[in-house]
Amino acid sequence: MQTAHLIYFSPTGTTRKVAEAIAQGLGAGKVIHYDVTLPGSKFETVLTDGVAIIGIPVYAGRLPELCRQRLQAITATHIPAVLVALYGNREFDDALVELRALSVANGFHVVAAGAFIGEHSFSTPTQPIAAGRPDAEDLKRAVQFGKQVATKLVGGTVDTPDMEGHVPYKDRPKLGGKAPETDDEQCILCGKCAEVCPSGSIAVDLSVTTNTENCIMCCACVKECEVQARHFSHPSIEEKRAILHKNCCKPKTPAIFI
Ligand SMILES: Cc1cc2nc3c(=O)[nH]c(=O)nc-3n(C[C@H](O)[C@H](O)[C@H](O)COP(=O)(O)O)c2cc1C
Repeated sequence: MQTAHLIYFSPTGTTRKVAEAIAQGLGAGKVIHYDVTLPGSKFETVLTDGVAIIGIPVYAGRLPELCRQRLQAITATHIPAVLVALYGNREFDDALVELRALSVANGFHVVAAGAFIGEHSFSTPTQPIAAGRPDAEDLKRAVQFGKQVATKLVGGTVDTPDMEGHVPYKDRPKLGGKAPETDDEQCILCGKCAEVCPSGSIAVDLSVTTNTENCIMCCACVKECEVQARHFSHPSIEEKRAILHKNCCKPKTPAIFI
């Protein structure tokens, strides 16, 4: 196997972990990362050889809009692509078929897809939702999936498999007006929250300010804060978190389409 192009948007790192495990299974001689998570990560690249692994997190059963915009910069001349949707143990709904449509439009030839499970962005220590996922078993499955793809590619059968999901896609709820907040008593103004924010919505000066209109609610700032000064406690999120914690506690298993 030649080069694996690892293309991903992964604010809290779980999509990236699964994509890396798939690349490991593929046995690629060389792995090139295209991390489109942060502002300014515009690659403007045309891929002409190797295999692409394209990983996205599922937001409201869809491909997050910001992620869709950033993926537009990476196109291909019909190289094989493996799609990965990483979801928080609720459902992945239409995210994979939406990613498939985008990837095909960008010039990729989709040969396989997988929906894997990762810790939900809204998970907290007291109300865990898929906490600790992807776990060792998930990553083993991802490596095995990579091996299956390698076998498919050498076997010469490179059809695009059917996958779960519907067109038209689910409606995307409007973002804006909600964002994690900073506890000024706890905050040490280290700036880590601003560094990891995919939408560049956080500014750190003598205090932390958050632009709630641009926040995509990924919770990277909450999970990266070393002194636990960031919290997402908006009443509608508290309500959603409680529902997910209650209804999505039975661990799901990865779904593979090859
Ligand atoms: C705004 C938002 C919407 C989400 N919607 C879903 C969903 O519809 N289904 C689901 O299972 N998980 C959902 N999640 C959880 C994410 O899919 C999960 O936390 C994410 O894949 C983590 O990816 P990352 O670690 O690569 O950032 C949502 C998370 C956010 C922030």
